[in-house]
Amino acid sequence: TQNIHEVSRVKNFDKIQIGKYQVDTWYFSPWPIELTASECLYVCEFCFSFFGSEKQFSRHKAKCTLHHPPGNEIYRDATVSFFEIDGRRQRVWCRNLCLLSKAFLDHKTLHFDVDPFLFYCMCTRDENGCHLTGYFSKEKESADGYNVACILTLPQYQRSGYGRLLIQFSYELSKREGKNGSPEKPLSDLGLLSYRTYWAETLIDLIMTSSVEVTIDELANKTSMTTQDVLHTLQNLNMLKYHKGSHVIYVSDETVQDYEKWKKKRKRFIEPDGLANWKAPQC
Ligand code: ACO
Ligand code: ZN
Repeated sequence: TQNIHEVSRVKNFDKIQIGKYQVDTWYFSPWPIELTASECLYVCEFCFSFFGSEKQFSRHKAKCTLHHPPGNEIYRDATVSFFEIDGRRQRVWCRNLCLLSKAFLDHKTLHFDVDPFLFYCMCTRDENGCHLTGYFSKEKESADGYNVACILTLPQYQRSGYGRLLIQFSYELSKREGKNGSPEKPLSDLGLLSYRTYWAETLIDLIMTSSVEVTIDELANKTSMTTQDVLHTLQNLNMLKYHKGSHVIYVSDETVQDYEKWKKKRKRFIEPDGLANWKAPQC
C-alpha cells in the first residue's frame, strides 16, 4: 500500500460525497483502484465505508447501524462530543477514517497499521446521530513526546473554530496525563497557522491573567506545551527581551490590544472539568 502511495501521487477522486456535503479532495488517497472509474466517491459519514456509485451507497445506508464513532464518549458540552477510539479494537473503522483524511493531508504517509494509535473524534449532535467534524490521532506511546500525530477538520467545517477546539482538547489530555506535548513534525501550512494562533492566544491569556510574574517553565507546565514551543511562540510575538543576563517576558500595548480582540472573537472553548474523570486508557 505504501508503494501505491509513493508511485501514484495523482489525485484519484475529485469529489467525495459525505453526509449531506459534497467536497473537493485536495490530495491522493489510496482508496481501492477499482473505484477510480467513478467521478465521485461516496463515503458513509458514520462508518466511513466507501462506494463507487450512489446505488451501492444507498444500499449501504439502508443497513448501516452506526450513528456515532465506535468508542466511548469521553467529553460532552453544549456544542460537541468527543469519542475515544482504540485503533487496535476498531481497525477497519480507523483505516477508513485515515483514508478519508489522507485526501486532505499531503505530507503524511498513510499508516495502515492503526493499532498503535488512539483516535479522538469530535462530533456535533442532532436527531440523526453524531456527525464527525474533525479528529486527531495520538500514539499510545510517543518516544518523541508528541501529543498529536494527525489532526484534521473536515473541509466543510473548516475555519469555524473546530480546529482550535481539537488542539485545545489535545492539550487538556496532556494536562491530565501530567505531560508536556507537541504535535508531530512536520506540520502542514494550515497546521502551523492553527497551532501558532493557539499557542499565542493561550500564552498571552495566561500571562495577562496571572497576578505574579511567570517563568518560561511555569508557562510550559501550566499549558502542557513544551518549553521549546513556549520560547518559539514568545520569540515570534516579540515578547522576549534580554535584560541583565536573563530572558524577561515583555508585554507591549499592541499585545494587550490583540489580546482584547481575541477575547471578543473566541466563543467556543473546551471545558477542562468535562474531562475530570478521564484517564489515559491502558492499551
Ligand atoms: N488561513 C489563515 N489562517 C488559518 C487558516 C487559513 N486557511 N486556517 C486556520 N488558520 C488559523 C487562524 O488563525 C484561525 O483563527 P481565525 O479563524 O480566528 O483567524 C486559527 O488558525 C484556528 O482556525 P480553526 O477554524 O479553529 O481551524 P480549522 O477548523 O480550519 O482547522 C486544520 C485547522 C485542522 C489545520 C485544518 O486546516 C485542516 O484540517 N487542514 C488539512 C489537514 C492538515 O493540514 N492538518 C494539519 C497537519 S499537521 C499534523 O497533523 C500534526
Ligand atoms: Zn456506514
